[in-house]
Amino acid sequence: MKKTSSIKIYSFALFVTLFLIGTILTLKHSYETSAEDFKCLKCHKGKDSLEKYVQEKKIKSAEELRSLVRKGPKAGLHLTSTEEDIEKAVKYLKLP
Ligand code: HEC
Repeated sequence: MKKTSSIKIYSFALFVTLFLIGTILTLKHSYETSAEDFKCLKCHKGKDSLEKYVQEKKIKSAEELRSLVRKGPKAGLHLTSTEEDIEKAVKYLKLP
């Protein structure tokens, strides 16, 4: 009698522990792959941040950002950037 109930408690504790670890890992993963994680930021950080360019170049819309990256004087530096990366940048910069 006493033995079975302690096994139950152990298995319940094990279940709870695994559940918590799972939750923490999932949250951590979604946090890390959220807004702050896209290719543009690999090159654009610190003094070359996207925020700074948006201010300097007076980029006011998603369309302006797209055409500057694709057809602007620095388009050659962005050949490896995908449409998806640009869309993520638009969301990150909250451009209309
Ligand atoms: C391989 C590195 C790299 C990646 C990835 C990259 N950039 Fe750049 N980007 C540069 C460099 C280098 C410049 C030029 C910096 C300078 O003018 O001193 C630049 C310039 C810019 C400029 C200014 C353009 C201009 O005409 O002056 C904008 C806006 C910009 N990048 C946006 C983006 C966005 C949005 C992404 C993601 C889709 C991105 N970049 C990804 C390297 C990169």
